[in-house]
Amino acid sequence: MLKKLSIAALAALTFSAGGAMAAGGEGHVHDVDFSFEGPFGKFDQNQLQRGLQVYTEVCAACHGLRYVPLRTLADEGGPHLPEDQVRAYAAQFDIYDPAIDDDRSRIVTDHFPESGLENAPDLSLMAKARAGFHGPYGTGINQFFKGMGGPEYITSILTGYTGEEKEEAGTTFYENTAFPGGWIAMAPPLFEDQLEFADGHSNDVHHVAEDVSAFLMWTAEPKMMARKQAGLTGVLFLAVLSVLLYLTNKKLWAPVKGKKFEV
Ligand code: HEC
Repeated sequence: MLKKLSIAALAALTFSAGGAMAAGGEGHVHDVDFSFEGPFGKFDQNQLQRGLQVYTEVCAACHGLRYVPLRTLADEGGPHLPEDQVRAYAAQFDIYDPAIDDDRSRIVTDHFPESGLENAPDLSLMAKARAGFHGPYGTGINQFFKGMGGPEYITSILTGYTGEEKEEAGTTFYENTAFPGGWIAMAPPLFEDQLEFADGHSNDVHHVAEDVSAFLMWTAEPKMMARKQAGLTGVLFLAVLSVLLYLTNKKLWAPVKGKKFEV
């Protein structure tokens, strides 16, 4: 009886999981080798600068980065722009200042603007929010073994449009292979040769999508490199400590262990 019950329960579980997958339609996310993956991974400064450009010229029309202070664009390990460029960059956005009851241009201590389009989510933390459990049945296997997460998801969204669209209740939806459910309300934002990079880097949709995804990973986790460094130092420290403890242990027990007991 118990056996039968548990088989039934297991079957129900399996089917419902399968059903949920089919109905929800988890999108397809492909792997990208980002420079910041792995224990020694680092953000690529040029890539972050290109990503900033893509964000500014394309995504900023709708999406905000309200949690990101503009001054961090000068940070080492980040886009690392010269201070005067950061000041000039900040000044292009206006902000309402209650002190003067008027708008003024932003200064480096202000944050990036909020989303200009109501239904476009803020992107500051998107790369972490969508780190997701990709892989078979949301097990997170792909994240664990391939380091796939939020940035891959964003790249896959930006390159996952099939060209199909439909209208529902006055909103246009675009078919997208990466978006859960398969239909997204964001029109394809990128197209070939849309922008020029100062460093002459390729500007096809795939590369542009990767650059902006790397930039959004940085906005979501600007201290990633410092964290990895601290982790590595910790591991090294523990390794040395283990060796010392092992040797101490040997030495302490040497007189006892070496002794032959006579009966
Ligand atoms: C014309 C306005 C517009 C532009 C430009 C735009 N987006 Fe969007 N974006 C939207 C809207 C609207 C949504 C919400 C879609 C939905 O929930 O169906 C969205 C959603 C998203 C999402 C969230 C997907 C999710 O899992 O919820 C990401 C990531 C994203 N956009 C990234 C970008 C990036 C990167 C760019 C620049 C290359 C960009 N968008 C440009 C309007 C825009």
